[in-house]
Amino acid sequence: MTPSRHFALIPAAGVGARMGAECPKQYMPLAGKLMLVHVLDTFASCPSIAHTYVVVSKEDGYIDEALAGAKHLADRVTVLHAGGPTRHQSVLNGLHAMRADATDNDWVLVHDAARPGLTGELIDRLIGAVKNDPVGGLLALPVVDTLKRGNAEGRADATVPRDGLWAAQTPQMFRYALLRTALEKATEVTDEASAIETLGLKPKLVEGSPRNFKITLPHDVALAELHLKGNP
Ligand code: C5P
Repeated sequence: MTPSRHFALIPAAGVGARMGAECPKQYMPLAGKLMLVHVLDTFASCPSIAHTYVVVSKEDGYIDEALAGAKHLADRVTVLHAGGPTRHQSVLNGLHAMRADATDNDWVLVHDAARPGLTGELIDRLIGAVKNDPVGGLLALPVVDTLKRGNAEGRADATVPRDGLWAAQTPQMFRYALLRTALEKATEVTDEASAIETLGLKPKLVEGSPRNFKITLPHDVALAELHLKGNP
């Protein structure tokens, strides 16, 4: 039996409305490189990753120029113009589009283009922790803050116990066939692990890092640059 390979699948078909930038946030320059190129470089330089697929929208007008400036990625990255209206749909379309290259047992690591702080060490930590797992898993961080449930007036209604709570990050790593089935069956979910959970399975939680946060709002950019300049 051929050993399972590890593929990266990067959904990058969002418009990043909350960032309010001129271009989708994944194409913003950050510490000398485009946000998406940081992510692609991290996977491309990781020996355990066989190949990377990036899902962009059908009408994306930025990806060609982004990759023209990163010729070293040519053999390591395939662009799929298969984006959908939601992240869930973009990932599922990407899985369908890479079907010819992956076997059912190959692992797929789905990672947000908007998390450029990912490192090779974090990818290896996830793969090491999950490679013999029957379900798969994800990077996540234990919640350390006290959590409040707010009401419509912006006042705290209750304090939510944080015991056992984790904040999900990406990559999220599942076998190709299981992930595809889970996403096909799920109604709208915001990450892959939620779709797997709806099958009654329990993804493994692997400790991630604060530097792997998702860039969402304009003030996130400066913090990301600090991380990326400190550890390119
Ligand atoms: O919008 P948000 O930051 O939650 O998006 C997370 C990731 O999903 C981003 O990399 C974004 O480009 C991607 N996405 C997508 N297709 C969509 C919406 C978001 O690939 N329709």
